[in-house]
Amino acid sequence: MSEILISPSILSADFAKLGEEVANIDRAGADMIHIDVMDNHYVPNLTIGPMVVKALKPHSQKPFDVHLMVSPVDALISQFVDAGSDIITVHPDAGPHLHRTLQSIKSLGAKAGVALNPATPVSSLDPVIEDIDLILVMSVNPGFGGQSFIKSQIQKISTLRGMIDGSGRDIILEVDGGVNPDTSVLCRDAGANALVAGSAVFKGPGTYAENIAAIRGRSTSQAA
Ligand code: DX5
Ligand code: ZN
Repeated sequence: MSEILISPSILSADFAKLGEEVANIDRAGADMIHIDVMDNHYVPNLTIGPMVVKALKPHSQKPFDVHLMVSPVDALISQFVDAGSDIITVHPDAGPHLHRTLQSIKSLGAKAGVALNPATPVSSLDPVIEDIDLILVMSVNPGFGGQSFIKSQIQKISTLRGMIDGSGRDIILEVDGGVNPDTSVLCRDAGANALVAGSAVFKGPGTYAENIAAIRGRSTSQAA
């Protein structure tokens, strides 16, 4: 497998200087910029809207990996695409018609992802596997940064790796929540090829590059 993609979550950044923080993680080796959008309805937290995404866009050329934890989600899709989202990930229970939501994301030119909460079964993806570019395995319950990794999700990552390989499609398998240099190894071994990390990246000014490198670890090709 090629080297793993690291997508730092700016949820743990200094919100008083978000643009600078995005530029900092870009320079520190981030492959994507993970933006957690929470609405105090689908999840009990309130974070970032499309205006902020638009303001951050000039601060990095890396893909904006936007994770929508909002319900209802459909009316916000075009606003987040217009703001500069490259990948938009939604939760299956955040709208009445997942297939329609995914088509809407793709018709506007963004890549479409689906997030699975810890209790959401892999089978919920069966009907839409041909329609997605990314699967986001939630290894915490969504809503907050800094939670502990739920180890039962490792089996789900392995199952999804088999499903993706079986589909023959180029789908990113990303893990989100409690990812640190220890749990990243478990995710990679199970077949993930992208990792989100918030608190393990933003541990203090000047440490981002070493934190990202520690989470990335050694790739299989380097180990061989
Ligand atoms: C949780 C978010 C995650 C979270 C990751 O709802 O989707 O992206 O911020 O934060 P850490 O890495 O601190 O668990
Ligand atoms: Zn997220």
